[in-house]
Amino acid sequence: MILGCIECATEYRLSTPVYRCHCGGLLEIIRDLSSLREVLTREELDRRQAVRQGPLASGVWRYRELVLDVPQDQIISHPEGNTNLYNNQQISRWTDLDNLLLKHEGENPTGSFKDRGMTAGITHAVKNGASVVACASTGNTSSSLASYAALAGIRALVLMPEGMVSVGKLSQTIAYGATTLEVRGDFDQAMAIIEELSQEGQVYILNSINPYRLEGQKTIVFEMIQQMGWAAPDWIALPGGNLGNASGFGKAIEELKDLGLINRRPRLAVIQSEGANPFYNAFKNQFSEFKPVVAETLATAIRIGNPVSYRRAMRAILKTDGVVEQVSDSEILDAKAVVDRAGIGCEPASAAAVAGVRKLVRAGVIKRGETVVALLTGHMLKDPSSIIRYHLGGDGFAAGELANRPIVIEPRLDEVARVLDAAVSTR
Ligand code: F0G
Repeated sequence: MILGCIECATEYRLSTPVYRCHCGGLLEIIRDLSSLREVLTREELDRRQAVRQGPLASGVWRYRELVLDVPQDQIISHPEGNTNLYNNQQISRWTDLDNLLLKHEGENPTGSFKDRGMTAGITHAVKNGASVVACASTGNTSSSLASYAALAGIRALVLMPEGMVSVGKLSQTIAYGATTLEVRGDFDQAMAIIEELSQEGQVYILNSINPYRLEGQKTIVFEMIQQMGWAAPDWIALPGGNLGNASGFGKAIEELKDLGLINRRPRLAVIQSEGANPFYNAFKNQFSEFKPVVAETLATAIRIGNPVSYRRAMRAILKTDGVVEQVSDSEILDAKAVVDRAGIGCEPASAAAVAGVRKLVRAGVIKRGETVVALLTGHMLKDPSSIIRYHLGGDGFAAGELANRPIVIEPRLDEVARVLDAAVSTR
């Protein structure tokens, strides 16, 4: 295994604490997969699903040869992964698909997909002697970082945009004990400070510029396809913000293909919010130019205007014949209400993936009979204020179409009966 620059192919030693090449390019882990073809067979990976205890029960470390080479007793894991793949008819119908599957990464230990990359990143950090780990975050990476740093007994430093992080995520980050800096600015400004900090070398950076994070994120795709009996879907749809996950997914698909675990590549559909859409704009001009935007969206997790992993994600789209779509905040909230009402639930940014699938089906890009997996990246309780706003209205917003307002009653049984009669008659 080596670290290689994705732009100029310069190679670095694995333990070197660098995040960018001297040319400015991001780095990625390159491994020779030929020796693994005999080891990582479908049968072997299916056998490993029987492990119930310890780090090897993790949906990340099950694929350890493709994540990080580290002795088992040095792995820092909750464990994570092993998330459900839902097949819900109500949501499928809403997207006009015969069969939409939902991989719910909000079922990870801290409630988001970030835990997969974080277990790999923290394990590498601690193995290399880090005592302080840091990230800029819209709230999920920081919650995950804070939790895993607590598990490892090291200090976490978090930079987040002041007033722009949902209450669930801010609560987690401070409760797990991270030193939390609220930056008077947006995520992109916080990220720029982290990039500067990364050059000083004192602090171990755990944003997705860190190549080990992506090695963990890849396992979402491994696990999803394993759950599908190793039959790759036609499409994988996911929300795009800083574009780390899309980059990891592209790498995962190449590795599965190289190992012979799948025969064809799923196409990636990255969905952005209209107010935070630099990747969509670049896709629309065939990636001939990239222009950052000033981001504004209710889906605060993806309120990002200058994604650091832009070039890696572009490669993933090109390699998988993928697409990038954008959806409005109201489309996101409608999709979220449908996912919530189906009894599954997710946070707003996750619902962007479902809204994007519906839009792509209506545009004829995704065909009705194709198999699609949409990624739900975060748990619905990450952002309770957005739920209350949708159902009760407020903050200048009218309640949504599927609003379900609580009914206040006097403490008497006849009051309950009255409400029940009305509820049954409107079913
Ligand atoms: N969905 C959720 C719930 C997220 O928290 C994020 C990113 C994304 C989607 C987008 O993923 O950045 O890999 O393209 N959240 C980061 C954070 C930025 O700090 O928690 P991406």
